[in-house]
Order: sequence, then C-alpha cells, then structure tokens
Amino acid sequence: MVKKEYPPIPAPIDAHTYANVAEAVIQHLELDLTVDFEKHLISGSAEYALRTDSSARNITLDINGLQIDSVTLESNGSWIPGEFNIGPEAPFLGSPLSIELPESGINKIRIFYQTSPEADALQWLSPQQTHDKQEPFLFTQGQAVLTRSWIPIQDSPGIRFTYHAKIKVPKQLLAVMSAGNPREKNDTGVYEFDMNQPIPAYLLALAVGDLSFSAIPDRCGVYAEPGLIDAAAFEFADLEKMVTTAESLFGPYQWERYDLIVLPPSFPFGGMENPRLTFATPTIIAGDRSLTALIAHELAHSWSGNLVTNATWEDFWINEGHTVYLENRIMEKLYGKEYADMLALLGFQDLMRTISDLGDSSADTHLKLQLAGRDPDDGMNDIAYEKGALLLKTLEKEVGRQTFDAFLKQYFSDYSFKSISTEQWEQYVQQHLLDSLNIDFDLKAWLYHPGIPDQHAEIISNKFEQVDRRVKEFVRIGRLDRSSTRTWTTHEWLHFIRHLPTELHTSFYEKIDNVYNFSDSGNAEILAAWLELSIKSGYVENHNQKQLEVFLTEVGRRKFLLPLFKALLETGRRDLAEQIFNKAEKNYHSISSKSIRDLLTAQPAI
Ligand code: BES
Ligand code: ZN
Repeated sequence: MVKKEYPPIPAPIDAHTYANVAEAVIQHLELDLTVDFEKHLISGSAEYALRTDSSARNITLDINGLQIDSVTLESNGSWIPGEFNIGPEAPFLGSPLSIELPESGINKIRIFYQTSPEADALQWLSPQQTHDKQEPFLFTQGQAVLTRSWIPIQDSPGIRFTYHAKIKVPKQLLAVMSAGNPREKNDTGVYEFDMNQPIPAYLLALAVGDLSFSAIPDRCGVYAEPGLIDAAAFEFADLEKMVTTAESLFGPYQWERYDLIVLPPSFPFGGMENPRLTFATPTIIAGDRSLTALIAHELAHSWSGNLVTNATWEDFWINEGHTVYLENRIMEKLYGKEYADMLALLGFQDLMRTISDLGDSSADTHLKLQLAGRDPDDGMNDIAYEKGALLLKTLEKEVGRQTFDAFLKQYFSDYSFKSISTEQWEQYVQQHLLDSLNIDFDLKAWLYHPGIPDQHAEIISNKFEQVDRRVKEFVRIGRLDRSSTRTWTTHEWLHFIRHLPTELHTSFYEKIDNVYNFSDSGNAEILAAWLELSIKSGYVENHNQKQLEVFLTEVGRRKFLLPLFKALLETGRRDLAEQIFNKAEKNYHSISSKSIRDLLTAQPAI
C-alpha cells in the first residue's frame, strides 16, 4: 500500500480569547477567594504559574467586568509590583488584561481583584429561589466564555492548567468545585480544593449552598439541598454502574471521583460537565429514573470534552457530537438497544426540527462553525449535538462496531488532556480509520457543508413505531387503548405528544389530559412537551395556562423555555409571553434571559 502524505495542519486559532498563546500561557492557578452573599461579590487573589517563551514581554489574560486592584510579580522569592494595562471592552469577549513581564524573568504573577454583581458566570439566588428556601445559593457557569467574568484567565478551550483554590463562604454553607471536594461543612467556612489534572478555563466551577452529600457506594455521590437529597440519591442510584459501563467502552476514567450536584431550578442547562462534579438541573428528578440519560451525557464528557477538548468554540461539535454518541452507547449497554433507539430517535427529531428552523442551506448547519465576531453561544444548537452524533453513528455503521470501538479508545488515549480542531480530527479519522480500511467516506460533506448527507445511518425504533400506530388510531377514532399504553415510558409519551396534531378539537386534548394528567405531570420533559402542544393547539386557554406560567417562572432551563416562548410568539400570544417573561426574568440566569430577550425582540417573520 502506498503511504499517503498528510499535509501539516495549521495550529487552531481561537477567535474568543485575547490570550497570546504563542508567547505565554498559564500552567497552574492558585485561587484565594471570599464569597460575599450580601454584596453579590467574589473577591481575593489569583496567582499563576506560567510557561513563557524567552522573548515574551507580556502575558494577556481575558477579563469581563472584573475590577483589577493590583498585580504583583514574583522574582527570586520576592514580590514586586507589576505593570498592567486593560484594553477596550468588546461585547461578550470582555477586555484583554495585559501584564508586563520583566526581562529578568519571573516565576509567578498574582492579581488582586473583585467581580461585579452582574458577572455573567455567577447566579446569586435568594433562599426563596432554592428548593428548601432556607439559605442563599451561588453557582458558576463557565462555558463558553463566562469564566473571565469571575476569574482573570486565559479563557480558551485550547489552554489547560491545574488549580488549587481556597474559598471562604458563610459558615452555614458548603462550597464545592470541579475538583476534590469536601463531604460536609466545617466550622470555619473555609474550604480547599485541588484539581491536579489540567483543565481548560470553561471547566472551572464553584457552587455554594446548604448542601448535603449522599454516597453512591465508592467512587460516586450526589450533593443536593437537604430536602432533596433522598430523592436525588434514589434517582441517581445507577451512577457508579454508569461509570463502570463507560470505562468498559471508552477506556479508564481519568478524574478519580464522579459526583453530581443538583442545583436550584434556575440552572440554565440540563447538565454541565464540570470535571469530577457534574452540575445538574433538578428537572431530571422525575421519581422514576427515566431522565438519567442526561447524566450519561455529562459523564461521557469525562472522555469527549474534558479529556479531549474542542480546540475552539467553532469546533464545539467535537465536544457535543461525540458526547451524544457516547451517551447513547452507555444507555444501550445499561438498558438495552430498544431504550437507546428511542433516545436516538428523539435526538434525530430534534435535529430535523433545528435544520428546518435554520434552513437546510444555512452555514450554521455545518459542523465546523464560523463564529468570529459572534457570541459563541449562537452556535450552540442541536447541529453540534445531533448532526455530530449522526456522523459518528454513520461512521460506526461503515466500519463496523468493533473497529469503531477500538478506534475510539485509541483516539481518547492519543488525545488525552489535549485539544483538537475539526481539521485535525478529520485528518486523524482519515488516517487511522478510513485509509487503513480503504473506505471512501465524504467527511468534508459532513464537516464543512450544510444539511445532512444522504448516506446517513438510519435510526429506527420499534417501540416508536407502535406509538405511531396509537397516534393514528387516536386521531381517527378518538380512543386510546389503555392496555397498550400501560407499559409506556417517558420516551414513548414524548414521542406520542410530539406527534399529536395541533389542530384537533379541544375535546381530544381534554380526553388525554383527563386520563393521563399531563398538565400536572411531575416529569418536566413530559410537561414541557405537553405545554408546547397546548399552546400550539390553543388548548392552553382555559386549561393549563396557570401551569404554563408556574413552569416558566420556576424553571430556568433554556431548553424548555425557548420552545415555549417561541410557541407563544408564533401563535400570536406576544402579550402573554412578555407578561410571563417580565415576571419570571428575575429567576433566570443571564444565559437564559439573554436568549429569551433576543427571541422577544427579534423582528417577527414577515
Ligand atoms: N456542555 C453542555 C452545556 C453547555 C453547552 C453549556 C453550551 C454552555 C454552552 C452540556 O453537556 C449539555 O450538553 N447539556 C445538555 C444535556 C443534554 C444534551 C443531555 C442540556 O443542558 O440540555
Ligand atoms: Zn454536552
């Protein structure tokens, strides 16, 4: 066989950082911070150990809304004042903080600073906004470029560092981080943390609240407010099994422990893969363990994302596409193929909906995104997740599962604690998978072109085919065969609700609601899907508008909020949408309120 030549790939450039990567990068961070719940501030110092090029005359960090009080430099054991300059502020990027490096060389830099009460990464919650309503709560959200609003940092997914932190909080609260964590409160209110594996800035995270811990035997556990801890421990009882299953598929778990923290309902995401400590929405506590695929997803990021990281936010699909694929493999191994097929098909439906929303020739449907000058959050939709996962499923089908699994393990091992761009990934797959098997596969079509290539893996779910039959029957004769729906899981119900027509007579929706009580469902996924259908069909009037208002006021998870507000606008209920938003906004994280505000102010389609 003739050995192919592979052209060198240029080093990826991150358009969302001011860091001068080629000259000076952070290697280790020491935080010494105090959390002030009265003033909604974090203040203290950050100290950095650097790796510098000998010619480097400065290091540039990212900051957004931080007050920098002073900078000191350590040279031969003594600290001297440092010179620094803050450049102009740009939307969502913040400002460059440039620190001069004396020619004599320095070992460390220390910055004294404080955050602004409006810091985007921080959500300060009053006791009323928590589950137990006793104590305040704080959590951070770093991804994509928000860490710079609470720590001066080189905020690029391509730059990794280790960290140690000392955090002082009110004595009645516990602090936890994306690091080694305490299990219980102490009487000083001071906690120390170590993260000895290098991580990028977006994975630095802190939560402070009235927290209890419940161990899920050895390597795992869950943190939640005391009033929620038993329900959480029940819901996530399979956590340890999930880790073992993931290891059997993708290689060793590299982060020591895997714990979860259940946050208050305003958390803007379902989950966030902060290393060692996934942050999760309480809306996955359904009482029946039916929404734990989300945890499999966040756990899977321990390989795809946290171990092998997207080089820039334009390569975001590398994190999420692989993770959705891995999530499905974990669920299949734990709960069987039929279960995993349902999840995969729900994901595929989301993909179809996103492509039709964006338009199938939109550049935002490419896997490789173009985000220069844009908020990276703009590119974070189901394309990265579901088109990415479909590409991997299609590759798996092409080469066979066994080969693909061996390839994946090798990929995680070759790129451990490294970042990778789409172009590097393309070459790696070409070289290590396709060329060696002599397979012709149009990777470029998937990565750099819109829509979905025709040759994609087909996703079939027998269970959903049965649901489709029930939908047809119900629409035709208005009858639901109770004996066949008795065994349905959350996923079948979601498929059912998603496929009901919106133009049926109100009595049809009443009939379903009387029997299954969806309007009062304790399962947030089912409730959200039902409320969306209720808006689109007009059932919401005189039936569940109250439930809609309560849901939109209590839950801050953007994935639920956006489709509901969108449906309100599309059905001419702008007044109601604005009225609810005005009341609910104080409960939303800045990430969610920004998205909803953008939606509400966007020009209505002509
Ligand atoms: N890393 C994401 C959350 C995220 C994405 C935060 C982009 C900030 C910017 C997380 O892993 C995620 O994908 N969460 C999903 C879970 C789902 C796909 C199972 C969510 O929050 O809904
Ligand atoms: Zn994810």
